[in-house]
Amino acid sequence: MSVLVLGGAGYVGSHAVYQLIDQGMDVVVVDNLENGHRQAVHPNATFYEGDIRDANFLDSVFENESIDEVLHFAANSLVGESMENPLKYFDNNVYGTQVLLKAMTKHGVKNIVFSSTAATYGEPEAVPITETMPTHPTNTYGETKLTMEKMMKWTSLAHDLNFVSLRYFNVAGARATGEIGEDHRPESHLVPIILQAALGQREEITVFGDDYDTPDGTCIRDYVHIEDLVNAHLLALDYLRNGGENDVFNLGSSQGFSVNEMISTARSVTGKDIPVKIGPRRSGDPSILVASTEKATRILGWNPVNTSITKIIEDAWNWHSTHPAGYSEEVTL
Ligand code: UFG
Repeated sequence: MSVLVLGGAGYVGSHAVYQLIDQGMDVVVVDNLENGHRQAVHPNATFYEGDIRDANFLDSVFENESIDEVLHFAANSLVGESMENPLKYFDNNVYGTQVLLKAMTKHGVKNIVFSSTAATYGEPEAVPITETMPTHPTNTYGETKLTMEKMMKWTSLAHDLNFVSLRYFNVAGARATGEIGEDHRPESHLVPIILQAALGQREEITVFGDDYDTPDGTCIRDYVHIEDLVNAHLLALDYLRNGGENDVFNLGSSQGFSVNEMISTARSVTGKDIPVKIGPRRSGDPSILVASTEKATRILGWNPVNTSITKIIEDAWNWHSTHPAGYSEEVTL
């Protein structure tokens, strides 16, 4: 069995490739390296550098390789950027998926597991968030992911295509054995930013608001360990192989932690004094986002094991402290 991993040089995609190879799968990676890192691609994966919007390129991959199923991570994912440059997101995320689905139907590849986001829900009407709650994205990024989900749904009605869409909450941590980790440029995610401050690469971490209606005034999020998150993708592939129906699942840990709790846990994990500044709220940040993951557990049999934020931060720190410049020679913040 060969799995095609689109975006397999990115943070989540590269971890998926390692875990697929751990399972003995043959893996083909496609990545345009706009945000991904060549060094993050497992040495035993077959790598193609190219863009999923290039239909001829994608066709050639399906022709050269014997692809049985697809994991799709190839997308832009910065909320702020998506508001400044919405058409970039519609082009790469939505149009890219359109080209991909066309190639899959042309080459008779039926099963796709798709990387989606809690940003499809927008401001939640209640927490924990279940998959039946309304989807009203508040940013272009979330809107494009929701559109991609809808595109798969309608395509599946006309063609022999089956999909699982996995809506991620806050993914963090790194592969426990330390080969790969999280390296976005620019970095906007809380855990790597805290660890860059621990390494002295940033003067401080700015907490975006401490006047929210939460116990300590800082925003609460649901952090899920990257290896648990990837396990859900492996289970989703099994589910589709066994004839599972198209469906959408939340992936989180069903627990919420505040920004202050994340910083204090990072202080104890790293032993470093992490300087903090309180800044204004970041526009568009909901105060609390926590997933209900009951459905993924019930239907996919998913049981996240690394649910402690200490373990998540320890594994992230293991990679950051041994790769202070990430995948490159130089530190870029
Ligand atoms: N935060 C800070 N300071 C920082 C960075 C983040 O205080 O320097 C806070 C944010 O305000 C937020 C929390 O830390 O309260 C987490 O922020 P992240 O940027 O790490 O993550 P988000 O919750 O904003 O976004 C994540 C994904 C998005 C996805 C969204 C869906 O990164 O891709 O969840 O809910 F769209």
